[in-house]
Amino acid sequence: MSHDEFPTDRPAVVTCGLPYANGDLHVGHLRTYVDGDALSRALRRIGQQTAFVCGSDMHGTPVAVNAAEEGVEPREFALRYHEAYAETFPQFNVEFDNYGHTDDETNTELTQEFVRSWVENDHVFEKEIEVAWDTEQDQPLPDRFVEGTCPYCGEQARGDECDEGCQRHLEPGEIEDPVSTITGNPAEYRTREHKFLRLSDFQEYLQGFLDRVEGTDNAKNQPREWIEGELQDLCITRDMDWGIDYPGDEGETEDLVLYVWVDAPIEYVASTKQYTERVGADTYDWEDVWKLDGEARHGTDWDESWTDDGGEIIHVIGRDIIQHHAVFWPSMLRGAGYNEPRSILATGFVGIDGNALSTSRNRAVWADEYLDAGFHPDLFRYYIATGAGLETDVDFSWDRFQERVNGELVGNVGNFIYRSLLFAERNYGGTPEADVSDDVRERIEESLDEFEEAVRAYDVRTLAEVATDLSNYGNEYIQRNEPWNLVDDDPDRAEQVIRDCVQLAKAVAVVMQPVLPGKAERLWGQLSEEGSVADVSLDTALEAPPASFEEPEELFTQVEDDHIEDLNEELQERIEEASEESEDGNEEAADADDDDDEAATADLEPLVEERIGFEDFEGIDMRVGEIVSAEPVPDADKLLRLEVDIGHEVRQVVAGLAQLHEIDDLPGTRVILLANMEKADLFGIESNGMVLAAGDEADLLTTHEDAPLGTRVQ
Ligand code: 2FM
Ligand code: ZN
Repeated sequence: MSHDEFPTDRPAVVTCGLPYANGDLHVGHLRTYVDGDALSRALRRIGQQTAFVCGSDMHGTPVAVNAAEEGVEPREFALRYHEAYAETFPQFNVEFDNYGHTDDETNTELTQEFVRSWVENDHVFEKEIEVAWDTEQDQPLPDRFVEGTCPYCGEQARGDECDEGCQRHLEPGEIEDPVSTITGNPAEYRTREHKFLRLSDFQEYLQGFLDRVEGTDNAKNQPREWIEGELQDLCITRDMDWGIDYPGDEGETEDLVLYVWVDAPIEYVASTKQYTERVGADTYDWEDVWKLDGEARHGTDWDESWTDDGGEIIHVIGRDIIQHHAVFWPSMLRGAGYNEPRSILATGFVGIDGNALSTSRNRAVWADEYLDAGFHPDLFRYYIATGAGLETDVDFSWDRFQERVNGELVGNVGNFIYRSLLFAERNYGGTPEADVSDDVRERIEESLDEFEEAVRAYDVRTLAEVATDLSNYGNEYIQRNEPWNLVDDDPDRAEQVIRDCVQLAKAVAVVMQPVLPGKAERLWGQLSEEGSVADVSLDTALEAPPASFEEPEELFTQVEDDHIEDLNEELQERIEEASEESEDGNEEAADADDDDDEAATADLEPLVEERIGFEDFEGIDMRVGEIVSAEPVPDADKLLRLEVDIGHEVRQVVAGLAQLHEIDDLPGTRVILLANMEKADLFGIESNGMVLAAGDEADLLTTHEDAPLGTRVQ
């Protein structure tokens, strides 16, 4: 089954994962919103009716825990951040058609309607479960109020998510060795009654859904593993005050609120509804998107014909919440008789200077910090949207930011636009009178096709590259034709060249607008075009620009070395300060643990209890290899591109060894290569295998005799 090609005659909604209203925004958050914003602008550009909606995630323990630390009520605390987010997003040119929040009336009503609908359709049941309890405070410990060990991977985890390990969602009662985050005491488990959504009702439906859904490979493939075997039901209530009340009979459930992951995604629907309430259903009807032919169609099956009903629902999320969007959310929608998502795009994380972004270590670049540095938001948008494909992690460093802005935006796009428009204005007062040459017209048409294809493939990086490639072509074209040497000797030819360049500049404005909306608007103004470049269709790129325009100004300005040095210094200082603070903290912890002789073994990952058969082992193809060459991977401080000879062939492998081994020592090293590892794309380089290494220091596995290269390890 395949979906109709964009643009379809049905409305689309692009949503972005809701930020928890519990702290400042940083560049890691912004990636999803920039990608979502660029994609929705690009969809509109190709004629797809699109709403772009989001909201703040106000409930749950992520907010309650932080509010409690600050000693304020969760509502007051969350509203403060909600308002800050609503102000910050537009400053990055992230312009939602509606930005609501999960605690508003629309979402509260809709959430309760969803739950009632699940109850009516018999998807909800009640069960006694064990919940973590703080005996000193005599209170239950939902989700982030409890920490312990993940039962699946053995890593330290929070009550409802294995955030440092396997990233799985954890159900209440699952976490092992629970400890209260309120008192630090070991928690005990107590029996409570809770409501569950019977996810197993949707098992078959989900198989079909995952075959139909479009998007990034991680979102389409990872969930397959999670829906194998009987699906674990989802506990949809919590023992808390802060949240939306479970809509049960009076007295029955009054101390239960809905789990935050119930009302959060429903805000996607509520926010779309609020948009309709503002613009009118004639302009955009939320029910045409979210419902099937305008009504709820219940059942646990999917009727293929429904794919022609409803609108195009596109979710842009971080890769840590795939399970919620590809398993829980489609079940929630189906259980209430709603339409299903057409696509799920799960973006990679953002690292800082080659390391993971860490708010606790203050290794982050904050949204306000970027804005205070005085850089145009589009520069950040460009960097983050084009640093890698959607699902690949991107590293942010001020040095690389400077390099890319100066090289790609100032040196390429800005340079082409400025010299073309300046020459045009000085010599012809604007666009010379001539038709665009066939070659240039064809080159622009090619870019427009590439643009359209990129939108259909949800490929935001390519969208931006279409603009930079076209501008690159323009630079080469003007350089090759040297109009400044033709003006006197061959004025017709000079006029033709500049006519072509102005058309190319206009086309660049049209295709760069989704990723660089502010700069595209400015270029539009420089061309004296009417209205907004946001409102024109793709073909406008081929229409003649106005005959006259004013002398242009530079579109981009150089990022200076001393500015970057200052920013790097500030970042380093912050990281050092945070690390000193945490070392002090650790010393206290170490003092408390002084007589713990087992500290060393406690650091070892627990053994996996589940045994595998020999046939499973046989499926693992490990070979003796030798590193032939090693070189750094641009933009990725930790990664190296290796060529490994495994007898049959030389494999290209990307390995995280850069900071752990001397690059020059690696060639000639014998290693063990996992040869049938799935291929991966890391920073744009295909990795075809995995070099095996032990521990955090990447101690490389090797052989001790002379087994020939390519020998199988068994
Ligand atoms: O993980 C998070 O940050 C959540 N606040 C995302 C919610 S997305 C959705 F489903 F609403
Ligand atoms: Zn885990």
